Amino acid sequence: MPKGVQTHIPNVARMYDYYLGGKDNFPADRQAAEKVLEIIPEIRHSARSNRAFLGRTVGFLAESGIDQFLDIGAGLPTQNNVHQVVPGARVVYVDNDPTVLVHGRAILGKNENVTIVEGDLRRPGEILEHPDMRAAIDFDRPVGILLLAIMHFVPDTDDPLGILATLRGVMAPGSHLVLSHVAIDARPEAAEGVVQVYDRASSPFVTRTGKEIVRMFDGFDVVEPGVVNLPEWRPVPGTAVPYKGVGSYFLGGVGVVSDVG
Ligand SMILES: C[S@@+](CC[C@H](N)C(=O)[O-])C[C@H]1O[C@@H](n2cnc3c(N)ncnc32)[C@H](O)[C@@H]1O
Repeated sequence: MPKGVQTHIPNVARMYDYYLGGKDNFPADRQAAEKVLEIIPEIRHSARSNRAFLGRTVGFLAESGIDQFLDIGAGLPTQNNVHQVVPGARVVYVDNDPTVLVHGRAILGKNENVTIVEGDLRRPGEILEHPDMRAAIDFDRPVGILLLAIMHFVPDTDDPLGILATLRGVMAPGSHLVLSHVAIDARPEAAEGVVQVYDRASSPFVTRTGKEIVRMFDGFDVVEPGVVNLPEWRPVPGTAVPYKGVGSYFLGGVGVVSDVG
């Protein structure tokens, strides 16, 4: 077993892999994920919606001229990885999880445009100053920073808004932030059970309201249609929007650093 990989503790990256139907998970991950599925059966759909949101937003960023991406909390390699959505772009994948780093280096590291960096979002300065990051990303040019399904693992005691301000501080005008986050508004009764499962996992889960998630875009110009239920973010014409009626429980949006500081 690679160093640092603990198989007996449910791991949030591997639980997510299980929701997505992946094979990179162990019994402890599957048992914990099944408990969450009992409480929120639609979580598999949410995970897939989140990957689809990644595909649409990264495509949008590429159309807007972004050719360098920083994907923090990248997760285990799966479908729609950023460098597959935008072949040829520079991509730095960051995660603090040993399982993710081992798989990432094995699968993604063979691509010369891809860099894998070990880093913890709760210490953004270290991520930004990492020599491999500095070698790959030119922060004098617009960059796309992705924070997908990671901020709900960052508790308020780690100052999530301060973390976002630090990231925004290095983003040149024209840079884009893509963020998705579970919101409890639509399923408040589910929060306690889910929090209990994740309290025994590699990262605790933080419940936030839609209003709190919208605040994370402070200082960015949010593009249309705003911070919305993921399937509703610029859906591919002709596709249905599943769970449209259930309210917003996995929200996301895209914010731009404006030219006028
Ligand atoms: C639910 S997965 C999301 C994966 C991918 N971003 C996506 O949305 O499909 C969350 C990822 O964030 C990582 N993560 C959680 N807390 C982190 C932190 N403080 N710093 C870096 N990565 C973190 C986990 O290891 C995991 O790979």
